[in-house]
Amino acid sequence: MKLPPHLSVQGGHLAIGPHDLVALANEYGTPLYVTDEQRICDNYARYQKALATLYPKSKVLYAAKANGNIALLRALGKLGAGADVFSPGELELALSAGMKPADLLFNGSSKSPGDLALAVANGITVSVDSLDELHQLNAVAKAGGKKARISFRVNPALRIPTHPKIATGVASSKFGIAHEQILAAYKEALACSNVVPVGVHCHIGSQILEIEPFVKATEVMVKVAKDLTAIGVTLEFIDLGGGLGIPYHHDTDPAPTPEDYARAVVPVFIEGINAAGINPALWVEPGRYLVADSSVLLTRVNSVKFAHKNFVNVDAGFNLLIRPTMYNSYHEVIVANKAASAATATYSIAGPICETGDILAADRLLPAIEAGDIIAVLDAGAYGFAMASQYNCRPRCAEVLVKGKEKALMRNRETTNDITRTMVTPPWQQ
Ligand code: LLP
Repeated sequence: MKLPPHLSVQGGHLAIGPHDLVALANEYGTPLYVTDEQRICDNYARYQKALATLYPKSKVLYAAKANGNIALLRALGKLGAGADVFSPGELELALSAGMKPADLLFNGSSKSPGDLALAVANGITVSVDSLDELHQLNAVAKAGGKKARISFRVNPALRIPTHPKIATGVASSKFGIAHEQILAAYKEALACSNVVPVGVHCHIGSQILEIEPFVKATEVMVKVAKDLTAIGVTLEFIDLGGGLGIPYHHDTDPAPTPEDYARAVVPVFIEGINAAGINPALWVEPGRYLVADSSVLLTRVNSVKFAHKNFVNVDAGFNLLIRPTMYNSYHEVIVANKAASAATATYSIAGPICETGDILAADRLLPAIEAGDIIAVLDAGAYGFAMASQYNCRPRCAEVLVKGKEKALMRNRETTNDITRTMVTPPWQQ
């Protein structure tokens, strides 16, 4: 199986950079997420360069939802990345990580009055998702004596080739404003006393392995930009969202690169803004591409069972990586302590959760597995820990960050106390 450059097999064990993953599992315990900071920095630099080479006013805003550990936000912020934030929590994390308010965009289709007030107080540009939200934001800004900087999120209503649960730029999605209604929305914004439209935004979906949909979305966006310019909106940025997929099937999936993306999208962007006579910044919001392949989830085998299938019962399930259960996603798995051994049998890797759907990987050809072995689930860095839960009263696991020879925890393992900490005994039970 093809491995990305930060993963290798050394002495029969899977390694991340110079670190033996079996040794890390033994040192920190399992389940365990291990993330390579340098890989994230490299992914970011590649994305930024691919765009900026063709259009210097390009900016990468990391979609913090993909992996919200503040250590990653700090690393990316240092390199100059901004962030797409989708909640007050992500907003606060990005600011604490040292990112500049001007480099953040507050997205979301359902923001509370408190969320809007937080964005206004911090001077964060808000991507507005409905006219109702626009008027609420105007009122919040007015009450605070401020002007809120906004973009609207455009729904370009395209066909998006990805899992239906993560296709957002389709007509039936809850996100954004229909592109036919977008001009009217901006006119309404121009009439608001405490709102200033400064950008326009879209995000068509996630894990997209074709470039064509991004080109189509860009065509819609530059057409909208031209119309907006004609009604007097001064666009500082056009944000084309995230969505570039990664080859989860290492040997068979297409692997579109940021260069492929930039080569196809940027000329359409430049032609469109030239036609509109404007020169806004080009923003993008990748999440998965920056972090997915940087992390592995290590899980230890509790038992092996030869039933109607061969089940490998491990200590991590959909409580820690829900993607296979939720989207039928595929993740490559490697027996980390037998990484150089020949595959001899077919196994399904089953988690400890009390649900039939708790299968991390089905029917994989792997070396003979026994209790105590360490299974590495690859490409777990995006929407892995970020979507973890405490289901079945299982504390969430620790996360280790490595960079070159360095290694350290970036999140402590939870204990049962962390789960019960917020529980309160009602007075009648005392
Ligand atoms: N911008 C916005 C407004 C978004 O909603 C998202 C992702 C992104 C950017 C980043 O998209 P990316 O580059 O990561 O594809 N949990 C799902 C993915 C959900 C994506 C949600 N929005 C999964 O595990 O596949």
